[in-house]
Amino acid sequence: MLKVYGALIGVIGFSVFCIVGGFALKGFVADKMDAEESKTVVIYNGAAGANGGTAPNGDPLPAVDCNEWNLRLVNKSNPLPEDFSISLVDIGNNKQIDSRCAPDLERMLSDCRAAGCNPLICSAYRTQECQQDLFDREVTKFMNQGFSYDDAYCLAAEGVAIPGTSEHQLGLAVDIVDKGNQNLNDEQANTPTQRWLYENSWRYGFVLRYGADKTEITGYKYEPWHYRYVGLEAAQFIYEHGICLEEYLGVCTNAPEVKAPENGQYGYDSSNNNAGFGE
Ligand code: DAL
Ligand code: ZN
Repeated sequence: MLKVYGALIGVIGFSVFCIVGGFALKGFVADKMDAEESKTVVIYNGAAGANGGTAPNGDPLPAVDCNEWNLRLVNKSNPLPEDFSISLVDIGNNKQIDSRCAPDLERMLSDCRAAGCNPLICSAYRTQECQQDLFDREVTKFMNQGFSYDDAYCLAAEGVAIPGTSEHQLGLAVDIVDKGNQNLNDEQANTPTQRWLYENSWRYGFVLRYGADKTEITGYKYEPWHYRYVGLEAAQFIYEHGICLEEYLGVCTNAPEVKAPENGQYGYDSSNNNAGFGE
């Protein structure tokens, strides 16, 4: 009888072990699949045109290879790898950019000036440390306004990319302001420089990246100053169809919800609330 009980307990114990182990493994596999899927989705949808994807007006999206350097999608769902590196070139004023888009940038600024405008690049390539610093300052700014760390983190991420997810780290983004108004606010859109850039940047391969009507997709507030190089062909299509890069690549789901990391893993030091970051 004892032997029967022993065997029964053994069978039950083994079943419980399998069920619990199975769930744990399923969770692990699902996490891994989610991570891999998000990579695959980008690559698959990069060929959306060939697979029947369309722009909002019904025009077929061109079949493009989103692994091309100029079409690389960097956003809240697609961070850069830690070992990402590019060949940078100086563009003056202590700023650098991916050397491959520098000639088009130079042409654009030169024609913008020739049209009577006064453009000024106030940010270009950023290192991880630089992006971290900007992000931390933004979190600090909101905490100084009375927000909790969690809320401040989420608010900061609406305007400054979480380190590792900024197009500035990709080397293909520039923030351009008008010398007559160097504030990064919505008023920037009404300056002669921004008006000219908005109408003409596509001719040089640049697009306004964070439009006012795209915040749900991009996850960022309107930034009339942030221009991203995508190349001439993509820029023309994006401009003419009023779409953003995610839509062009066929990856137009809403941006993921941001949550502050519990352990402050992005380097924010909560003991450093008054670090003198200014604003
Ligand atoms: N302000 C943009 C989103 C960035 O930090 O890259
Ligand atoms: Zn920017």
